[in-house]
Amino acid sequence: MNSDPVIEVRGLCKRVTDATGELTILDGIDLSVHAGSSVAIVGASGSGKSTLLGLLAGLDSASAGSVRLLGHELTGMAEDQRAALRNGSVGFVFQSFQLMPHLSALENVALPLELQGGITTREAFARARALLERVGLGQRTGHYPKLLSGGEQQRVALARAFVTHPAVLFADEPTGSLDAATGHAVIDLMFELNRFSGSSSSGAGSSAGGGATLVLVTHDIDLARRCDAVVTIEAGRRVPNALHVDSPENVREAPEAGRV
Ligand SMILES: Nc1ncnc2c1ncn2[C@@H]1O[C@H](COP(=O)(O)OP(=O)(O)OP(=O)(O)O)[C@@H](O)[C@H]1O
Ligand SMILES: [Mg+2]
Repeated sequence: MNSDPVIEVRGLCKRVTDATGELTILDGIDLSVHAGSSVAIVGASGSGKSTLLGLLAGLDSASAGSVRLLGHELTGMAEDQRAALRNGSVGFVFQSFQLMPHLSALENVALPLELQGGITTREAFARARALLERVGLGQRTGHYPKLLSGGEQQRVALARAFVTHPAVLFADEPTGSLDAATGHAVIDLMFELNRFSGSSSSGAGSSAGGGATLVLVTHDIDLARRCDAVVTIEAGRRVPNALHVDSPENVREAPEAGRV
């Protein structure tokens, strides 16, 4: 495993103001994620996991603190610069999938390749089709999202996130809508795809011969246990107890185990 952190977070805070006043969602998170490693972010509903993932991926901007992603400081970066950094380097599986409703499964998966450019539509579709086959949706490529089940949409979202071979894959509850058997298959697939996905990645912080980096939010204890590190978030703060950190085998003994 490469020792360069692909993600370096210091004192990260996220505050929002709504009708009821100011709400602190994240309050001073520190975190380092090393190239080629897999990290599970766990914690109760509403603890700030999705917010943290969005900040790490550069989808949202912090109120205070810093996030370095693939060697670039995101703080103060304009959205178009963050988009350029994400493009091709970062894959994101949203908790709510966020597939494009007017595009077929195949078109949804091919879209990031077409946005990236340098590839013919025919080639983009061929790669998208191959990935949809890998996630068991070879017979559903022409379906629009509304005609797919929640688990099928989740697998399309996963294929879309992987299609550019990103250096870092962020996934928010990637097994959340799947039955146990499909969930296990998707976990296997994620780690398997992850292993060869990293080989074509390049640039600062990418892994040297290892896999792409995985950062996953999950309530799934089987998935958390397969990760190299587990980070627990409680009410917007990282639980400092070393028992919960960087040691997946300790997830079983941790008091939070029931909520993982
Ligand atoms: N833009 C926003 N405005 C106001 N409150 C927000 C906003 N975004 C998030 N929150 C609040 O911040 C808290 C953390 O939200 P977040 O979605 O990060 O939680 P989570 O840990 O992902 O929860 P879950 O496990 O249910 O997905 C929640 O209480 C949520 O209501
Ligand atoms: Mg969430």
